[in-house]
Amino acid sequence: KDKDFIDGLLGRMTLSEKIGQLNLVTPGGETLTGTVVNTDVAEKIRTGRIGGIFGVKSAEAVRVFQDLAQETRLKIPLMFAEDVIHGQKTIFPLPLALAASWDMDLVRATARVAAREAASIGIDQVYSPMVDVCRDPRWGRIAESPGEDPFLASRFAEAMVEGYQGDDLSRPDAVMACLKHFCGYGGGMGGRDYDAVDLSPAALHDVVLPPFIAGMRAGAGSVMASFNTLNGMPMHANRAVITELFRHQLGYGGLVVADYTGILELIAHGVAADRADAARLGLSAGVDMDMVSETYLETLEDSVRAELIEESEITAACRRVLEAKLKLGLFDDPYHRLDWGRASQPILTAGNRQLARAAVAAATVVLKNDGDLLPLPAPESGRIGAIALIGPFALDRVNMNGTWAVAGSPNTVVPIADGLREAAGDAVSIRTAKGANIVDEPWLASRLNVHDWKDLSVVVDVRSPEAMIAEAVAVASEADVTVAVVGEAREYSGESSSRTDLSIPEPQKKLLRALKATGKPLIVVVMTGRPLALAEEALLADALLVAWFGGTEVGHGLADVLFGKTEPSGRLPATFPYSVGQVPVTYAHRPTGRPTPGRFQKFTSGYVDLPDDVAQNDGLYPFGFGLGYGKVAYGAPRADRTQLTGDDRLAVTLTVTNLGDRPTLETVQLYIGDPVASLSRPVKELKAFRKIALAARAAETVGFTVTADDLDFSVAETVTDTRRRSESGAFDIHVGPNSRETQAVRVTWDRPQSGGRRS
Ligand code: IFM
Repeated sequence: KDKDFIDGLLGRMTLSEKIGQLNLVTPGGETLTGTVVNTDVAEKIRTGRIGGIFGVKSAEAVRVFQDLAQETRLKIPLMFAEDVIHGQKTIFPLPLALAASWDMDLVRATARVAAREAASIGIDQVYSPMVDVCRDPRWGRIAESPGEDPFLASRFAEAMVEGYQGDDLSRPDAVMACLKHFCGYGGGMGGRDYDAVDLSPAALHDVVLPPFIAGMRAGAGSVMASFNTLNGMPMHANRAVITELFRHQLGYGGLVVADYTGILELIAHGVAADRADAARLGLSAGVDMDMVSETYLETLEDSVRAELIEESEITAACRRVLEAKLKLGLFDDPYHRLDWGRASQPILTAGNRQLARAAVAAATVVLKNDGDLLPLPAPESGRIGAIALIGPFALDRVNMNGTWAVAGSPNTVVPIADGLREAAGDAVSIRTAKGANIVDEPWLASRLNVHDWKDLSVVVDVRSPEAMIAEAVAVASEADVTVAVVGEAREYSGESSSRTDLSIPEPQKKLLRALKATGKPLIVVVMTGRPLALAEEALLADALLVAWFGGTEVGHGLADVLFGKTEPSGRLPATFPYSVGQVPVTYAHRPTGRPTPGRFQKFTSGYVDLPDDVAQNDGLYPFGFGLGYGKVAYGAPRADRTQLTGDDRLAVTLTVTNLGDRPTLETVQLYIGDPVASLSRPVKELKAFRKIALAARAAETVGFTVTADDLDFSVAETVTDTRRRSESGAFDIHVGPNSRETQAVRVTWDRPQSGGRRS
């Protein structure tokens, strides 16, 4: 079946059947992802008024709904979608954590597993990957994003799309990816969700769009519009960006879906007078499917009759819906995913769990490891007798899947205590104490259960904070080492979970202070969905790890890391600020005319209330930072030549040496700086990275190729302006273990000028 098939089908469809295909609904269920749900779903399917459904949780329900669609006049199959964000039933670490792995083979593999699990219950499309670059960790949805950097986010976007879709979307175990949220959603004012975004056109092109373009080039079949306004124009009405730029100029050929009631919200945004107006604006902007609000269903037919819109616009949107269904193989067999799933049973297999376990170690970022406290001696070595495992997350299952694990269950999670006990066997005793509630204030605690799991709820301990701390201190005092697992609740990150404070809540800080006072070595493991301000924890802890929310296999994965069975190899995908006042923050800031030297100085750009040893511009822990258990030394970068012209390619090499006695994993990062340009350029921008394995005491020469394209930048003056500027002159090629600790080699590159440059 091909274009002729779609033409033929469209030729037989009534206007109302075409509009029905644009209606995307959710019947509601265990987990709501918005404030309202659709009604009379079965009846609407029977009468050809629904094209797609999301939020259906079981294979049985998918089959029932698809049966109804097969009873309609044209038997057009329904397309089923789901919010599969970091796994379906096997939950992997959060997307931000997966990005922290800097391992795109791993990322691709997690998406492949998620695709197979989701497809097996009849899901055709996943609302993932989320590729919103975000530099403001107050925004709770940074948990779902690949972080602050467009290059890392672009590689993440490609890997996720490839993993979900495989090389043939019509296969029963492949699902259609949906790049979201298009676009700019990560830049809301004050880190508030759904808030206005004001962004220069050049920043749109250089920072926001690259991951969408990368995902599109990897073949993503769909895109979701974002809730925000962009320079005043709500994205659901943004014809310039969706249709003129993304479709016409950049060549996107797939489906565009609305976000939840996003079309209706055009009224609240103040650009539509009523539902009919909102529907017309959304359709004309290029949003093909109206999610939940049913404004298309209710008003478009009348708008055509009143000659307010052309039927051809509806036909074009309908064509894209039908094309998506065709690509998914649904016209050949609307049940093929369901049938394959019943036969293959790919859910929560040992292999899926093994991958999730490996992902925990790959995503865990070690921020501090004084005196090589980690890894702990192997349990059987006899060098350690007792571990105190303390904190509100030590025994927890409820929080471990993090945000957006709509089909995942806490019941299948391996808690951290179980993982450690399994690893310790009889050789080391693991004694636990909760030590503190996640938060104490009842009004705050009540917000931890917003998405109630049916079977479990967050338990708030009613003992006094003092009694809980006393118990924890007693347990710690008897142990050789304390592992404190502290952080944010699951509900503190994700959608509609912005924070004004980036600290670990105070009851847990008090616990850490008391544990430090025992004098026992203190390992602090942080559970979080966002970069946090960890200045105090960095002082209190002897070893400090960011474990994010690790998902189903968190207990095993973390035990592997703590006992050194697996190397923790995460590197920060977003800056960890010193304090909330530093955000928005990124390593890729532009130079100021008055940079702050190493310490505070009046009339420079820094903060008067930050200590001298804190980098004013790139936080407490910079982008790309993370330690392994090895001791890696970087040699200076070498360029194969320092004068280049035109489309030359530059080879940069450096030697990386593991001085330690254990094998390690290292992520070698290459950044480019453009010290003199016609526009002030970011001080450094990530352009390449390689994650390598280094044997004990081994040296490796790592090579990168820099191309002329890596030097270009956007000079857009409007959102549809795609011009890039090439300039000649000097460029600094920085290489290092993170964005701060780099060494550079300077080259000059003569290139055909586009745009003036002095150098
Ligand atoms: O996919 C999500 C989106 O990210 C936020 N609003 C709801 C959608 C569907 O659940």
